[in-house]
Amino acid sequence: MASASSAPLKVGVLISGRGSNLQALIAVCAATGFPAQIACVISNKADAKGLDHARKANIPAFVVSHKDYADKAGFEAAMEAVLERHQVQLVCLAGFMRLLSAGFAERWRDRVINIHPSLLPAFPGLDVHEKVLAYGVKLTGCTVHFVRAEMDHGPIIVQAAVPVLADDTEETLAARVLQAEHKAYPAALRLIAEGRVNIIDERTFIADAAIAGEAFFSPKVR
Ligand code: GRF
Repeated sequence: MASASSAPLKVGVLISGRGSNLQALIAVCAATGFPAQIACVISNKADAKGLDHARKANIPAFVVSHKDYADKAGFEAAMEAVLERHQVQLVCLAGFMRLLSAGFAERWRDRVINIHPSLLPAFPGLDVHEKVLAYGVKLTGCTVHFVRAEMDHGPIIVQAAVPVLADDTEETLAARVLQAEHKAYPAALRLIAEGRVNIIDERTFIADAAIAGEAFFSPKVR
């Protein structure tokens, strides 16, 4: 991976929809001296709002629809052709709603990251906030992790904890977690682009990590 002194890390972002995490990544990459740049954005849906964010930022944006291919291998080969053409070194999944094949995960091993709106390994999969509320956990959050073949699984890079409030709805909780996502994803990208993330035995170790050494309580206790 690139270090701060070398050329910026070339990132490809895969989306399917709204693209608010993409927007957060675009914003941070636009900052002077940020060690990564977004080389291309790919959406599997033509009407993904996130495509507009990319186009506004003059980032090459492509639609590769899974529906145009007979099988997943063809779909992924088409995406990989775009990624390779733009010399992408790291793929960021940002609300990308297709499960990647084991082959893709292996070919891009340690070069694909994802953001998930829970504290993994709790609440993988879909309808996360509904499940969080139904279970009654007092803390939830988000996780940025390297992608493995198993969904929402892989070495964790950054997590942020967010309280669950008694009167939360799925919408209010999702909005609170999303705010944390918009900080966590750029932070994880920076760590990788600075060459500070090492994976050993499927755990990440972050060089010179600043540690917030206090427990975070929910509800707050005296
Ligand atoms: C986010 O909550 C992300 O964690 C999940 O899908 C959602 C995408 O939102 N994987 P957006 O498209 O980035 O706004």
